[in-house]
Amino acid sequence: MDVLPDKTTLRHWLSAHRDRPRVLVPTMGALHRGHTSLFDRARTEAGRIGGEVIATIFVNPTQFAPHEDFDAYPRPLEADLALCRAHGVDAVFTPVAHEMYAPDRSITVSESRLSTTLCGASRPGHFDGVCTVVAKLFLLTQPALAVFGEKDFQQLAVIRRMVRDLDFPIGIIGAPTVREEDRLALSSRNVYLSSEERAQAPILQRALATTARGIASGDLATPETARVHFLAAFADATLARLDYFEIVDASTLEPLQSFGANEPRLLAAAFFGKTRLIDNVEVS
Ligand code: PAF
Repeated sequence: MDVLPDKTTLRHWLSAHRDRPRVLVPTMGALHRGHTSLFDRARTEAGRIGGEVIATIFVNPTQFAPHEDFDAYPRPLEADLALCRAHGVDAVFTPVAHEMYAPDRSITVSESRLSTTLCGASRPGHFDGVCTVVAKLFLLTQPALAVFGEKDFQQLAVIRRMVRDLDFPIGIIGAPTVREEDRLALSSRNVYLSSEERAQAPILQRALATTARGIASGDLATPETARVHFLAAFADATLARLDYFEIVDASTLEPLQSFGANEPRLLAAAFFGKTRLIDNVEVS
């Protein structure tokens, strides 16, 4: 596996490997089984197209607000590289912030519809940071395909929209959320939870899942009854503060007023202490 610490080494690697299409997995490091499942998916896709897997590890400062956990975000680079190697990644781009952003940079990629609600409402500017860095990583690594986790469902929808609207010639693959045995979605932020918060954290997924089952069975016939059910189920998480719960159309992220032809997706975010967790489920 090649480790590419800057744009120059990346460009040399690309020109030496220019005959092979690439599958990209962008990450911020602190890798866990959620990320390695993305590498495994990328490996499968790369095998299908006769290509190679390139991962990026970059804790992107522009997607963190000043009060968020950018400085504290874990950066276990050696362990991350070992995981990349073990999961068949061919090359890892690991730039530092000044490689990616000029001090007087003045261009931002901004999505103005899907990114204003849900996490975008509580984290203003977050998706501008995500779109800008992902657009740069696309341009720098020039992949044929890129793999993102469905755990960040809004991010996936925003990136699909950016690819569509800016004509990036890249196929976007959404990969399923990986969960602990108690169904808590894997996240680099789970390490911040106290043992009491960790014990209650799976209630977020349970409340989403029972609500989704109620919608699927017809017991929860309207978005309003589904919301009441979710709030009652989530009340068991006495240490948590709900940030949002929404039932949206899976492709437009517009809130649903009724259950009809649309494909509903249930999304929620909650603070357990200072740790903000997100999760989402489909209605099947
Ligand atoms: O999902 C993430 O880890 C980040 O938002 C991403 C896509 C790597 C951009 O920094």
